[in-house]
Amino acid sequence: MDFNKKLAEYTKRINNALEDIVKQLPEGNIVSEAMAYSLLAGGKRIRPVIALAVCDSLGGDMEMATAFGCALEMIHTYSLIHDDLPCMDNDTLRRGMPTCHVKYGEAYALLAGDGLLTHAFTHITRNVKDKAKAFDFISYLSAMAGIEGMVGGQTDDIKAEGEKADMDTLRRIHERKTGALINAAGAAGAIAAGVPAVFAEGYTKSLGLAFQIKDDILDVEGIEEKMGKTLMKDINSEKSTFVTLMGLEKAKKELEEETRKAIAACEVFGDKGEFLVLLAKAMLEREN
Ligand code: IPE
Ligand code: IPE
Ligand code: MG
Ligand code: MG
Ligand code: MG
Repeated sequence: MDFNKKLAEYTKRINNALEDIVKQLPEGNIVSEAMAYSLLAGGKRIRPVIALAVCDSLGGDMEMATAFGCALEMIHTYSLIHDDLPCMDNDTLRRGMPTCHVKYGEAYALLAGDGLLTHAFTHITRNVKDKAKAFDFISYLSAMAGIEGMVGGQTDDIKAEGEKADMDTLRRIHERKTGALINAAGAAGAIAAGVPAVFAEGYTKSLGLAFQIKDDILDVEGIEEKMGKTLMKDINSEKSTFVTLMGLEKAKKELEEETRKAIAACEVFGDKGEFLVLLAKAMLEREN
């Protein structure tokens, strides 16, 4: 399999769909502009790619997976806009561009985040004809994005600033702040293929944790031009991360271990799991 070709194919499919969404936002509205600015600023599109790849591996409905994937990317982008606000991580650079609040001011950035979060659900209800599947995904996605998932993780991430969280607490933070939405990506693909939402959870749970451990490592070891965000932020903000709590070498071991588990969990896909295995490996080596 040509992994890079397939990855480019999935990414293009999502980028095209996101461009269509942006074209249909209300015109002449500054918050529409801010939503488009952050949504189309780039980004790896890893969550929609997982949705498409899981769906494809199971021979599912790719159109539905694309609609679900766009919703995931809108929610992810909202989480980044809010994560970057002065009251949260206070960042000025995102996806290689000034953060949304630097460009549009805090009030419009806050609203752009709100707009993307809610538009994710509008998009699903307007574009997914199978209402039962739309409902299944909305149920899973809203739980993963909310206080039981990403919002809960972000809360504890902020709470742990300036104090050394224990490893169990840190794992719980990472599982929710980043892992939850990656689980939702797997669920999107599964539901679009007509199998239970949890079908890919073995894979996405480990991949999600690995993804955030790698993010923690890149904060220290990454190259700013490639990352498109300011580095060394976690140490300077006294965040609890795998690197700040266990050091770089142990964090790398944890990353390898979670990646190994993710790859092993691809077993449920049989010989159709090749792309997902290669994706986990690519995420281990990623430079942004
Ligand atoms: C960054 O996510 C924030 C985390 C949850 C680690 P990504 O690394 O997926 O960021 P983009 O979408 O590629 O910009
Ligand atoms: C962000 O984690 C997680 C969410 C946005 C939900 P980080 O704060 O580590 O992400 P970056 O490093 O700013 O991209
Ligand atoms: Mg953060
Ligand atoms: Mg941040
Ligand atoms: Mg980070």
